[in-house]
Amino acid sequence: MKLKVTVLPGDGIGPEVIEQAVRVLETIAGISGYSFEFSEHLIGGAAIRAFGSPLPRTTLDACLGSDAVLLGAVGSPEYDRLPAHQRPEAGLLLIRRALGGYANLRPAISYGAITACSPLRPEVGRGTDILIVRELLGGLYFGEPRGFTGTNGSTTAVNTMRYSVEEVERVARVAFDAARQRRGKVTSVDKANVLETSQLWRQTVTRVGGDYPDVLLEHLYVDACAMHLITNPRRFDVVLTENLFGDILSDEAAVITGSLGMLASATIGGEVGLYEPVHGSAPDIAGQGIANPFGAIASAAMMLRHAAKLEQEACDIELAIEHVLEAGYRTPDIAHGTGGYVATTAEIGELVSEAVTEIVDMRHAYHAV
Ligand code: NAD
Ligand code: IPM
Ligand code: MN
Repeated sequence: MKLKVTVLPGDGIGPEVIEQAVRVLETIAGISGYSFEFSEHLIGGAAIRAFGSPLPRTTLDACLGSDAVLLGAVGSPEYDRLPAHQRPEAGLLLIRRALGGYANLRPAISYGAITACSPLRPEVGRGTDILIVRELLGGLYFGEPRGFTGTNGSTTAVNTMRYSVEEVERVARVAFDAARQRRGKVTSVDKANVLETSQLWRQTVTRVGGDYPDVLLEHLYVDACAMHLITNPRRFDVVLTENLFGDILSDEAAVITGSLGMLASATIGGEVGLYEPVHGSAPDIAGQGIANPFGAIASAAMMLRHAAKLEQEACDIELAIEHVLEAGYRTPDIAHGTGGYVATTAEIGELVSEAVTEIVDMRHAYHAV
């Protein structure tokens, strides 16, 4: 079996963390008989520098012709003053739309070894296991009309939040299906006390929920959800929400786990799945070899699960991540308050690869007896 993977390292720490994710995948390939065909392409600021476009045609074609896309991060301060469509981030939004995945799965898991590293008291964060299902192709990110009107002295800017029943329904089904495989609860998050889009969201999610009588559905307003997330994160199982709310709530959920660098994501529902850590290009720490690669490595695990249907190998990587944390190795962002040894990005990648090898060997030995 073979998986064609387009690798888009991107900007800042993107290439640093993706190198480690690819290393772990190569380890899996070396021991499982599965093979990957990796082809690397430019996106974001790196692509603007080389081709004058944040999503060059060659990159887009490579992605569309592959089985999965593994992306690091985009964004660079040198382009921060450009209009939205010329920025590195435009490359990410264009590739998301082209690949067609509308459901962005963002698990937030608090690992026992690093609960002390979260600013939340350990008894609050411990045991948190939330799956945020973020709608990824609608809402303010893509709604028309958008842009600036008027002249200098009196400029007006417009963005449009727009959702159709179909857009809400398809992502809601992903959330309910996921809840069935987990603890059977969906929290749908909206602002239905103010926004029409949210009223449609709530009505539609409620109707779809009727097809899932075995799943408990609750609704929360987004402001209250932000509060409950950090006061009682264990009350959540699956959190279903629209694009912008999901963007914000997932960074908040990362705080419970100890660091934004821990969070992975998978975008499904389209022609080709997109796998990327939740964090950005982190220009403040780029180039120092200290970025946390766990989120990128866990995104590779999600790729094995969703694109290659290699559930066992995905679990092996996730277990390896846990083992490395249990053994005390940490990048600086998760080092405070937990003891352990500070390691570089590359050392963590190597440690996870070694742990994966041990886990797979142990499994094979177990099956052999
Ligand atoms: P960011 O996620 O890049 O960084 C926020 C903070 O978290 C920084 O202090 C950073 O050092 C830290 N951090 C993030 N990832 C880390 C990791 N793996 N290990 C250790 N520390 C980590 O967000 P930002 O600073 O608001 O944005 C920087 C750039 O990234 C911007 O251009 C933004 O548009 C872009 N961005 C891209 C993506 C993406 O590509 N998916 C996501 C978010 C932001
Ligand atoms: C994310 C990022 C992106 C988003 C930006 C860089 C376009 O913040 O993936 O969370 O807002 O979706
Ligand atoms: Mn974000």
